[in-house]
Amino acid sequence: MQRFSRRLLLAALPLGRAVAASIEQPSMVDPALRRAMEALAAAIPKAEADPERPVYHFRPPANWTNDPNGTIFYKGWHHLFYQLNPYGSLWANMHWGHARSRDLVNWEHLPIALWPTGKEETAIFSGGAILAADGRPRLFYTSIGRPQPEQWMAAPTDDDLIGWEKPPSNPVLTQAAHGGRTVSDWRDPFLFKEAGVTYMVCGGNSGRRMPGSGQVHLYRAENEDLTRWRYLGPVFEYRDREIANIECPNLFKLGGKWVLIISPHRPCEYFVGELDLARAKFFPETHGVLDPGDAYASNISVDDKGRTILWLWGRTNLPAERGWNGVMVMPRILSLGADGFLRQHPAPEFESLRGEEKTFPAFPLGDSPRQLEGLSGDTLEILAEFSSSGFGSFGFELRRSPEGKPAAVAAIERGSLIVGAARTYVGMHERYRLRLFLDKGCLEAYVNDGFAAVYCPVAATPKDQGIALFARASGPRGGAVRLESLKCWPLKPARFDLSRFKI
Ligand code: FRU
Repeated sequence: MQRFSRRLLLAALPLGRAVAASIEQPSMVDPALRRAMEALAAAIPKAEADPERPVYHFRPPANWTNDPNGTIFYKGWHHLFYQLNPYGSLWANMHWGHARSRDLVNWEHLPIALWPTGKEETAIFSGGAILAADGRPRLFYTSIGRPQPEQWMAAPTDDDLIGWEKPPSNPVLTQAAHGGRTVSDWRDPFLFKEAGVTYMVCGGNSGRRMPGSGQVHLYRAENEDLTRWRYLGPVFEYRDREIANIECPNLFKLGGKWVLIISPHRPCEYFVGELDLARAKFFPETHGVLDPGDAYASNISVDDKGRTILWLWGRTNLPAERGWNGVMVMPRILSLGADGFLRQHPAPEFESLRGEEKTFPAFPLGDSPRQLEGLSGDTLEILAEFSSSGFGSFGFELRRSPEGKPAAVAAIERGSLIVGAARTYVGMHERYRLRLFLDKGCLEAYVNDGFAAVYCPVAATPKDQGIALFARASGPRGGAVRLESLKCWPLKPARFDLSRFKI
């Protein structure tokens, strides 16, 4: 567990005790960490007892999570840190939880990595990770509690990245870096390297929470230790009237272009374009909605296969009494299409959870919902291909009650993908490939080889296991719809190992 520097111990304990403890028990655990770990552990039985809790979407041991933080592949492990409230299942008390995985599917929960230390720090907001010159990662996060947010850095104390310390060189950035400029809602550092230089972007705005003032700010590391930084300017300004500040910006290279993903208090958006680092300006060429559903606050990692992995928080919008809230969307592999727009594929490693495959014969879809023998359940993957000659809507009703009422619909309608309350245009085609992942209260849909991807929560009860196919002709141009192929796999639960969740 984290061995505490004397400085941190002094901050956490009354002076007399701190000095004695640091001499007599150098490995003593911060009481604030112990409290948080105990609260989280105590919440596990209730969270685990919920029959609607997803079984293969990543989730903390219990309680609340939101943004994925500091995602990094290091020494054979995908490390995921995440916004965590160890004390309850609604948003509050932000800490960084931590888990690691060899395959993006099965996880080991690790001890809480970052918690508020010292009387001035009350919350650890979102941030990112980067490999430093000594070959080990550093975490950067927004420290909350003083009058203004500050950007802080943490360094690992071991190669498993379990212990983290906050060196005395913190904060690494304060508002003073912006000179005369004020930036408000300034948070969520994300790191990248270009030509051997390390850069950081932070979300914020141009000084006030005003319509059209969302900005992404760019900084350059001035030393190898990543403790001194210089402000280069607003690399991106979003003159959209609906947006007052940008959260969780990610700026990274993909397929020879630069991609900027933003979380603007509505579904995440992306821009693909060129980055001029000398002028500190990003020039967008294409623009899209990353996921029109309930996914938010992205992060990025690159693994040993060179894959760019997209991480997203999946909202579940549950009441406090459920004992858990929030998941990570299945990690998605990102690529750039020839049309300049992103493609998103669920990590192929999820195929390891497939049970016995069922295939169904092709048939023309009639007007009323049709249940297929052997196609039901709440934890499965469906791969379907439809052909369509008109504007009608067709797709799946999911989590149908015994009375036939669906808790969610995933469908194509007039060239748009509709999943729950979300809708995104995918174009008029003769064929649509729809891939669905149902995981109890979470649903993901991918259409036409990753052209669109949607996550949404589903409010259902354990008895709602029905699935039906449907086609509806809307108006005279509804046309005919045919199911061309259909495969389905029950999915097994992923492993969430708690044996290293201890201090
Ligand atoms: C995005 C966000 C971030 C912030 C974090 C706090 O969901 O609001 O901007 O750092 O959540 O939990």
